[in-house]
Amino acid sequence: MNPTGSFKDRGMVMAVAAALERGATSLLCASTGNTAASAAAYAALAGVTCGVILPAGQVAHGKLAQALTYGARVIPVQGSFDDALTLTQEAVQHTGAELVNSVNPLRLAGQRTAAYEICDVLGGAPDILALPVGNAGNITAYWEGFQAYRQAGRIASLPMMWGFQAEGAAPLVRGETVVSPETVATAIRIGRPARGDQALAAARESGGAIRAVSDEEILAAYEAVASLEGVMCEPASAAPLAGLRRRAAEGEDLSERVVVAVLTGNGLKDPATALSRAHVPEPIPASLGCVLEALA
Ligand code: F0G
Repeated sequence: MNPTGSFKDRGMVMAVAAALERGATSLLCASTGNTAASAAAYAALAGVTCGVILPAGQVAHGKLAQALTYGARVIPVQGSFDDALTLTQEAVQHTGAELVNSVNPLRLAGQRTAAYEICDVLGGAPDILALPVGNAGNITAYWEGFQAYRQAGRIASLPMMWGFQAEGAAPLVRGETVVSPETVATAIRIGRPARGDQALAAARESGGAIRAVSDEEILAAYEAVASLEGVMCEPASAAPLAGLRRRAAEGEDLSERVVVAVLTGNGLKDPATALSRAHVPEPIPASLGCVLEALA
């Protein structure tokens, strides 16, 4: 059900359950926002404390509002997500808190279930699975999930894994760390993905690829899926749609393919981006004449 509005819940519920079994009383994560919201929610439900280390000023307001309201200890640091993750890994050594970033294997075990569900709904594996890639846990989890489902005899084929990063935060495309990643898709504003090697392996082994898309392409896809389908996702989630559009424009024939693009986060997470793209109309007098005029 992803109650906090992103796929992170699939993995977080597993990581937190395992932490509780071990008797943990506190959780810690670095986050671009969604992991923080999810960790904070499950910590609240479980009655344990939660610290979230965030890149200051780079977290969409819906996510920040969630982490604060669920009662997490929110720690903005003057640095990038990558700095925050390094600090988190060091801090767990000092505090003994449970690390619930996707370097935790239980997170991936939970996120694999998304691959199972897609196969169940389609009655088989898709030809292509398109995902946004940030810290690279999710694409790793999906690839594990599809492989596990095939080993279990539930599907006959495996999809190609197509990952998409934002051009200003595309370390896996460029083949090197991006020290100061920049993109409107703040969820994937990551320059040194913790599971980068596994993401590249998933792309290679599946016959897929990891590519980059520009912020303009991301925002165009973000507006298109909202206005054509009635689905408002967050900017990062539109990266795979942007990528599919670009590959189709480059001549890739997708017409006979079963393609799944995962919308990883709810659009309400980031109202500021939506409003910055839209024209908010000026108020008019509350009269029928003015309303009819405005509708004309
Ligand atoms: N889409 C959304 C909405 C995300 O929040 C993230 C990651 C991704 C895609 C990419 O997934 O990192 O497994 O490659 N958000 C993390 C966070 C980094 O802290 O919430 P990934």
